Amino acid sequence: MARLTMSRGSSCVLSLLVVMCVGASAARPDPEESLAAANGTCRSRVEPFGYGCEEHMVTTQDGYILSLQRITSGRRGESATGGGGKVPVLLQHGLMMDGMTWLMNSPNESLGYILADNGYDVWIANTRGTVYSLGHTSLSSSDPAYWNWSWDELASNDLSAMLQYAYDQSGQQKVHYVGHSLGTLIALAALSDQQQHVSMLRSAGLLSPIAFLNKVSSPLTLAAADVFLAEALYWLGIDEFDPTGTAVHGLLTDICKLPGVNCYDLMSSFTGDNCCLDNSSVQTFLAHEPQASSTKNMVHLAQMIRRGIIAKYDYGDASDNIKYYGQATPPAYNVSAIPDGFPLFLSSGGRDSLSDVQDVRRLEQALKSHDSDTLTVQYLADYAHADFVLAGNAKERVYGPLMAFFRLQDK
Ligand SMILES: *[C@@H]1O[C@H](CO)[C@@H](O)[C@H](O)[C@H]1NC(C)=O
Ligand SMILES: *[C@@H]1O[C@H](CO)[C@@H](O)[C@H](O)[C@H]1NC(C)=O
Ligand SMILES: *[C@@H]1O[C@H](CO)[C@@H](O)[C@H](O)[C@H]1NC(C)=O
Ligand SMILES: *[C@@H]1O[C@H](CO)[C@@H](O)[C@H](O)[C@H]1NC(C)=O
Ligand SMILES: *[C@@H]1O[C@H](CO)[C@@H](O)[C@H](O)[C@H]1NC(C)=O
Repeated sequence: MARLTMSRGSSCVLSLLVVMCVGASAARPDPEESLAAANGTCRSRVEPFGYGCEEHMVTTQDGYILSLQRITSGRRGESATGGGGKVPVLLQHGLMMDGMTWLMNSPNESLGYILADNGYDVWIANTRGTVYSLGHTSLSSSDPAYWNWSWDELASNDLSAMLQYAYDQSGQQKVHYVGHSLGTLIALAALSDQQQHVSMLRSAGLLSPIAFLNKVSSPLTLAAADVFLAEALYWLGIDEFDPTGTAVHGLLTDICKLPGVNCYDLMSSFTGDNCCLDNSSVQTFLAHEPQASSTKNMVHLAQMIRRGIIAKYDYGDASDNIKYYGQATPPAYNVSAIPDGFPLFLSSGGRDSLSDVQDVRRLEQALKSHDSDTLTVQYLADYAHADFVLAGNAKERVYGPLMAFFRLQDK
């Protein structure tokens, strides 16, 4: 299988915002293989533990065919299908990750299983470009046009399609959302831009929130951002940002030669010092990730890191921006426009070098018209970026408080 070959033939660096692999490049699986692989998640990772699991597909308005896994029942067996009235939760992974994010640890430790065991109807999203969601109504993933998107489209198209689908399938029940890393930015952008999402959502839990990226402290990430901006034309010509490919290998090799950049422990360099990862979940991670993204998405993130604002993708010159947006600069997303009454749970870590403490404070400031009933803020001094989904103690530290927050909204 392509994905296993990829992890064996290369040495990967764990980071949930940027995953770099150095080594042999793997062939991309075709969309049918990708759907079979998704089926494999239910079979290999969910059903063996005694959970019910279904494979679903949804097509976005721009033609991307995305797969979702639905965990229909917990280990005790009550099913979500058949009008059980369970509350749906949509889980959205971060950059270069996929839905496996929520299933990496044991059923007692990973959020996907824990929610199912607590009676929720769990929907696991896989965004375009991940191995589970490579299908398109007219494009092949080897077409440059397939990779012509950034997180703007993940917010406006992928999230709306998956949310609408989970909402409809669960009998039009409002959905709780949980995002990690880039999955939080997608939600913040969608919520500030498109009010119709609010009517389908009960609340959003944002783990290791990414919104303002102005204070990112990792020298490695900053150097990567500079390369993307300085060499945007070159990088955009590559279309697909394949972390196992030679272009990315070259990028990493060059960056690691820069003074002040420490590549000795790459994972900590990107994510910060994770306190509580266990070795077996890291091994599971390396066997399944990283997933590809689009180069345009990486350039868009680099723009945010260097400019400190949350705005749509900048085409780089005024006339192109006018062509796409009707104005010379890309429109900003206004997170303060998220309705005050919409419940948000923010959980951030003191050692996270991507979701920096100062950037999270700025986000909290932007949301300050929320009161304490609608904004819950959690701060874990010893957590870094990956701990929120991979730590062995995340159930006690994060998921318990998150579910308590959900229960308040469900009353
Ligand atoms: C997924 O598994 C089901 C049940 O075995 C099967 O009917 C279906 O064809 C599979 N789908 C894909 C895309 O492999
Ligand atoms: C998981 O949790 C259940 C219920 O709390 C417990 O009975 C079981 O021993 C735990 N399993 C592991 C592997 O820790
Ligand atoms: C990318 O999409 C834009 C429209 O958003 C289009 O103008 C452009 O030609 C596309 N580029 C490629 C390579 O498909
Ligand atoms: C982690 O697990 C891998 C594979 O099982 C093993 O080779 C490695 O020695 C382990 N590392 C630690 C620190 O336990
Ligand atoms: C953002 O939204 C808030 C709340 O609706 C509004 O007061 C503020 O003026 C907006 N900011 C911008 C720059 O549009």
